[in-house]
Amino acid sequence: MSKEFEIAAKLLVKSKYAIAFTGAGISAESGIPTFRGRGGLWEKYDPNEFATVSALRKNPKKVWKFYVEFFNLMKNSKPNKAHIAIGELEKMGIIKAVITQNIDDLHERGGTKNIIKLHGWYNRLRCDNCGYRTEIEELPEEMPRCPECGENLRPDVVLFGERLPSTELDAAFIEANKADLVLVVGTSGVVMPAAYIPWVVKNNNGKIIEINYEPTVITSIADLSLFGEAGEILPKIVDLVKKAANKL
Ligand code: OAD
Repeated sequence: MSKEFEIAAKLLVKSKYAIAFTGAGISAESGIPTFRGRGGLWEKYDPNEFATVSALRKNPKKVWKFYVEFFNLMKNSKPNKAHIAIGELEKMGIIKAVITQNIDDLHERGGTKNIIKLHGWYNRLRCDNCGYRTEIEELPEEMPRCPECGENLRPDVVLFGERLPSTELDAAFIEANKADLVLVVGTSGVVMPAAYIPWVVKNNNGKIIEINYEPTVITSIADLSLFGEAGEILPKIVDLVKKAANKL
């Protein structure tokens, strides 16, 4: 694998505009479960019952209870070596933007500044009736009411079947179109439209480096796939990037 780490580092150093595209796998080593695969959230919870707008309307108490648990898990978790390595690559001027499908804030807490969050923010609530939005530190046990109009507030995250926030979606595709390399970390690459990001880069003749436990739908178009834990692989690549950058 060490040869492949060197290739990855060289590709990153040579790139002019590298971006990262990340999914639940990057936060797995921080203790947040992924959605698919072994131990994934959707093995235990049916997304139709917990992650759709109709579930939220039909059974708000049940969805809220699930969300409070998930919120506390994210709030109490810490960025891992993979988040920190990506933050370092940005600090070194190599990664220009991180596009994530994750609603946790571990990239931000791991040092990433330029982040685009396609699926929302775990620590924000919004009112679908009047558009009120608020940031929260704690979640009440019961679903709170909007202080403006009295309707239920809901998590400001993208549920199944909902549109992605348009500002973030536009920004993500602008970055993807600028990129000559995308580092794809810890995503199964199956949830659209987010999962188009690597394909856009590929279409523009950019390079794809994938880091994942196992092959995914991205593997067939990746220039380099590194299989293993992101928190083990990324720091090694960062060390090699530092060495290569010193030689330039
Ligand atoms: P998935 O759960 O679909 O995929 C997680 C990926 O991470 C899998 O391919 C795992 O093999 C990989 N993985 C797990 N642990 C890893 C580790 N330590 N190092 C490297 N790779 C690891 O998660 P996403 O692709 O993020 O959307 O899922 C996309 C969207 O589906 C989510 O944002 C969410 C979900 O439904 C919404 O809720 C709208």
